[in-house]
Amino acid sequence: MTLQRTFTIIKPDAVKKHAIGDIIEQFEKNGFRILAMKMLEISKHQAEQFYAVHVNRPFFSSLTDFMSSGPIVALALEKENAIADLRKLMGATNPAQAEEGTIRKKWATNIEYNAIHGSDAEDTARFELSFFFAGYELAI
Ligand code: CMP
Repeated sequence: MTLQRTFTIIKPDAVKKHAIGDIIEQFEKNGFRILAMKMLEISKHQAEQFYAVHVNRPFFSSLTDFMSSGPIVALALEKENAIADLRKLMGATNPAQAEEGTIRKKWATNIEYNAIHGSDAEDTARFELSFFFAGYELAI
């Protein structure tokens, strides 16, 4: 398995719950190297661009309202098999189905306010990393 990069967001609900430290600790304990990290707020328009693949979903408007409702933390992570391993550590999108010990089991409120985002494939990881980070910020 080759080294892989993935992208994650600690969402506004988890930031409001003071879960940033706990979630970053989970990344480090599980062997992810933090390549880059920033705390910021995004606009509704930026959230719409980021989640463009979901534009036709019924939850698109409410998802983009939520993601622009407060500070988020964006991170670039690196590890062998990072994309699949991060998704395992996050748990199911719907926290009702998330396994014990996962980030969403611990911090998500419901399927929408689900604490964390993680890239689901290599092409989305590339898009999402470049959406939030310039090349020079990842040259670590
Ligand atoms: P995320 O992994 O960031 O990718 C898309 C997001 O849309 C997802 O997490 C949830 O926050 C949200 N989402 C997915 N399915 C639903 C749904 N059925 N109802 C509301 N929000 C959803």
